[in-house]
Amino acid sequence: MHNSSTQTIPDVRDMPRHVAIIMDGNGRWAKQRFMPRVAGHKRGVSAVRETVKACGELGIEYLTLFAFSSENWRRPADEVSVLMQLFMRALESEVAKLHENQVRFRVIGDLSPFDVRIRELIARGEELTKDHTKLTLTVAANYGGRWDILQAANKAQMEKLQQARAFQGINKPEAAPVLESCKISEEELARHLSMAFAPEPDLFIRTGGEERVSNFLLWQLAYTEFHFTPELWPDFDRASLLKAIDSYRHRERRYGRTSEQLVLSKDTANATAA
Ligand code: IPE
Ligand code: IPE
Ligand code: MG
Repeated sequence: MHNSSTQTIPDVRDMPRHVAIIMDGNGRWAKQRFMPRVAGHKRGVSAVRETVKACGELGIEYLTLFAFSSENWRRPADEVSVLMQLFMRALESEVAKLHENQVRFRVIGDLSPFDVRIRELIARGEELTKDHTKLTLTVAANYGGRWDILQAANKAQMEKLQQARAFQGINKPEAAPVLESCKISEEELARHLSMAFAPEPDLFIRTGGEERVSNFLLWQLAYTEFHFTPELWPDFDRASLLKAIDSYRHRERRYGRTSEQLVLSKDTANATAA
């Protein structure tokens, strides 16, 4: 279990440990070239490949990519179907390469509406790569931040109810401590979130010019640094990533404290190290 940014002040490093990206602008990239939207999605897959490679080389430990949101089902059926085909093809061709490059592969989101073949490929990919520790690539598919918080709350609640089940006299005064113990803590909820295996993102990038979260990792972005770029996702490359990291490095991550406190804590750390 990783520390929560609202409960413990995280240790801030020069290089983000976890980068989360909303890969947006594929459709506009294609439109600018008088091509069908699918051409933009295809080029988007190459940008994913390049970004994974760059993250590995830079020593980033977690890369999380928003591939399909729970609201993307609202798109025309033929676009949804093309996106599913592309996802399936990418799973078929890329997982072995990820394994070769020692990348751990994970998928988060509600997978129940996906084709059984897609679900099998995901399960096999996760199993094959589970022991790699260098870089974890998480793909968010049919993911929604609200879905994530709700499913975690429901799991935490079930756990509590199972613990309290033996207790019958719920209206008696003696029940008060039991009811109190049924309240869910931040830690108990966070344990059930789909990204409980990773630290919270340090850097959030959204391409395509929109400046919104679109129901991505709502809980986990509490103290993440945001970087918005007008660049369209198919054009995103190593240089774009370096630009985002450079901007990140100039941020002061205060986590509620004052600037002066931050300087003081650094001085104390330096004095202890010397
Ligand atoms: C992001 O690109 C890919 C997905 C949402 C699947 P878009 O398809 O949203 O591209 P734009 O925003 O229409 O340009
Ligand atoms: C967000 O992009 C989801 C993904 C990149 C998968 P959208 O293009 O769907 O977001 P909105 O609809 O513009 O907010
Ligand atoms: Mg979009």
